[in-house]
Amino acid sequence: MTVTNAAVLVPGQGLRSRVLRLADPRDDQVLVRIEASGVCHSDLHVLDGDWPVEEPIVLGHEGAGVVEAVGPAVRDVRPGDHVVLSWFAPCRRCEACAAGRAWLCSNTKAVSNTLPDGSTPLSDEDGTPVLPFLGLGTFSEYAVVPETAAIVVPDEVPFPVGALIGCAVTTGVGAAVHTAGVRPGESAVVIGCGGVGQAVVLGLGLAGAQPVVAVDLSDRRLGLARELGATHTLRGDDPALAEKVLEITGGAHHAFEAIGRAATIEALPGLLRAGGNAVLVGMTALGTRVSFDPFDLADQGKNILGCNYGSSVPAVDFPRLASLYLSGRLPLDRLVGAEAGLAGLPAAFADLRAGTGLRTVVRPGAPAGTSAGTSAGTDTWTDTGANAGTNEGVRS
Ligand SMILES: NC(=O)c1ccc[n+]([C@@H]2O[C@H](COP(=O)([O-])OP(=O)(O)OC[C@H]3O[C@@H](n4cnc5c(N)ncnc54)[C@H](O)[C@@H]3O)[C@@H](O)[C@H]2O)c1
Ligand SMILES: [Zn+2]
Ligand SMILES: [Zn+2]
Repeated sequence: MTVTNAAVLVPGQGLRSRVLRLADPRDDQVLVRIEASGVCHSDLHVLDGDWPVEEPIVLGHEGAGVVEAVGPAVRDVRPGDHVVLSWFAPCRRCEACAAGRAWLCSNTKAVSNTLPDGSTPLSDEDGTPVLPFLGLGTFSEYAVVPETAAIVVPDEVPFPVGALIGCAVTTGVGAAVHTAGVRPGESAVVIGCGGVGQAVVLGLGLAGAQPVVAVDLSDRRLGLARELGATHTLRGDDPALAEKVLEITGGAHHAFEAIGRAATIEALPGLLRAGGNAVLVGMTALGTRVSFDPFDLADQGKNILGCNYGSSVPAVDFPRLASLYLSGRLPLDRLVGAEAGLAGLPAAFADLRAGTGLRTVVRPGAPAGTSAGTSAGTDTWTDTGANAGTNEGVRS
């Protein structure tokens, strides 16, 4: 048993600092010391009640760390290995997995926020079970995850970069390279340049897209997008946005939405040329509906493509992305914003809500009193969230 400080979404109380018990790794499970965890908008979706979940739950799903111990059936990772965690541990048996399309696994238990056997390794001090978000729960000093979720990467990859490979980078780069299959010289527009959207811009650079139009409401984020390869930047609140995109691209081959808003999703087909792809990367609140003009889609042969995890296979794509970073082809460190202890989470979520700053990376084990310090173990910080408590009692 391991004792771990964690950020827990507690019924009716929002996000709280808690000391939890973590069971030892059994069977094919792996105990990981979390060295870094990115703060992704998907965590905010849960905090804000967009995606109802059973609580209490440890948030965080974009993590990297070091293997501390392994269960007796583990074959592929060893104590001391540096790993990036996958939030969609595949079953390796269903039709999608057999066909090499792990991001479509129909048997994964990650979306139920449990380990593959339906259990949770986490409990509160009074024995109450606590779930790990997407089977990981990386806002914690330690996590027990299935072996299929722990992908070994070279020790040279800095932990904050590894953490971002765990979600934003794989999703964004994969959206361009895998989901849309962008080819050199094709044009693209990216609506929303947070952590995921910036990674789409990087993926478009790898694929040789030209021109690349980045759209956001934050001038700082647009500045970074340009440094990462966008040839044009436009503000999302520009009333002439669609006309300007059409003028620059002649109708884009590919339009990516990386926010999760109905209005920006509905605008995608209007930015495309005939035969173009609208790629849905952003995730909406559950129950959101959008509408498109079906005549335009059929007549112009435009495609709406759903994108889960960048249509990526973590066991294949994480090491490739790490290698591209290490060889200087993919400047993933540029995506890392502030670093903080778990106590920095409320500020990180405020940043995500306001669309300011860059992606915060928390270091759960950072000792208190350091620049990345934390008040872990105490209850002195909390993020009550915009709709804190609305998830109470809700079952997914
Ligand atoms: N498909 C997947 O597998 C997958 C994986 C990870 C995250 N996501 C989803 O992707 C979305 C983005 O995640 P993120 O962590 O990058 O979020 P983020 O909050 O960091 O980024 C969103 C960006 O959109 C910008 N924005 C907001 N309104 C806008 C508008 N009207 N016009 C232009 N820009 C606008 C914000 O300024 C911000 O930069 C979320 O919905 C998240 O849940 C999906
Ligand atoms: Zn994410
Ligand atoms: Zn499967």
